[in-house]
Amino acid sequence: MCSLDDLKFEKATAEDEKEITELLMKNFKPPMGVALNMEHEDMICLCPSSVRRCLSCPLSMVVRNAEGKIIAVQLVTIHNRQDEQEEHDRNEAALTEKAVKIVKFMTHMEGDLWQLVPLDVNCLMRFNITFVMPEYQRHGIARRLSSMRLDAAKQLGCQGITTTSISIKSQKLRLSEGFEVVKEVKYKDWLDENGKVIFDIKDDETDRSILTFKRL
Ligand SMILES: CC(C)(COP(=O)(O)OP(=O)(O)OC[C@H]1O[C@@H](n2cnc3c(N)ncnc32)[C@H](O)[C@@H]1OP(=O)(O)O)[C@@H](O)C(=O)NCCC(=O)NCCS
Repeated sequence: MCSLDDLKFEKATAEDEKEITELLMKNFKPPMGVALNMEHEDMICLCPSSVRRCLSCPLSMVVRNAEGKIIAVQLVTIHNRQDEQEEHDRNEAALTEKAVKIVKFMTHMEGDLWQLVPLDVNCLMRFNITFVMPEYQRHGIARRLSSMRLDAAKQLGCQGITTTSISIKSQKLRLSEGFEVVKEVKYKDWLDENGKVIFDIKDDETDRSILTFKRL
């Protein structure tokens, strides 16, 4: 039985990069990745660079168990309205075909974010990856992670939080935390050039991705 008192919630640092990357590469299986049957070579062109980017943000967190092993992460970035363009400048040539499918979908989900959040909001904290090891899930770790560092986020100028939730667990989590849905895309409507569904989600109860926002 897991008790939150035995866990350490800490700021993630550059020294955690290897352990976090390995943890996610091995265990993080978002439903879209499962639907595409993503393999190591597909994950390696997305995961390490995302982890590195989030570790440069002082709001990213790790959770360690009594043995000091990282068992959960919340990887965060900060975004400003005026930097809108640079968000989508990822070099597709360096990605595998499956990774491109993920990036295109996420760009579609989040590309018009600044039109969807209130006009007075110019700086947002984005939860990129929240992951809790299965044996530690459902003990309130993710909820505690999202309630931490909010004052620090405000001090850095963040006026709200945004995140895209692609699995039923994370959607329930965010809705229970008061996030509002500003956009949703059903997987059955996201088609390739031949009209075929790209993400045939079978192992998750949700039929859509949601982009959510909550004011700070
Ligand atoms: C989503 C995830 C981060 C939740 O972490 P967690 O520490 O287990 O979540 P919590 O215990 O804080 O749960 C908070 C709320 O989330 C929702 N929730 C979490 N797990 C759920 C589940 N299995 N089924 C339904 N709702 C769930 C519930 O509303 C829950 O509140 P409740 O327990 O009072 O009903 C975790 O399940 C996970 O890492 N999943 C795999 C990766 C993933 O989907 N990440 C998000 C996409 S980036």
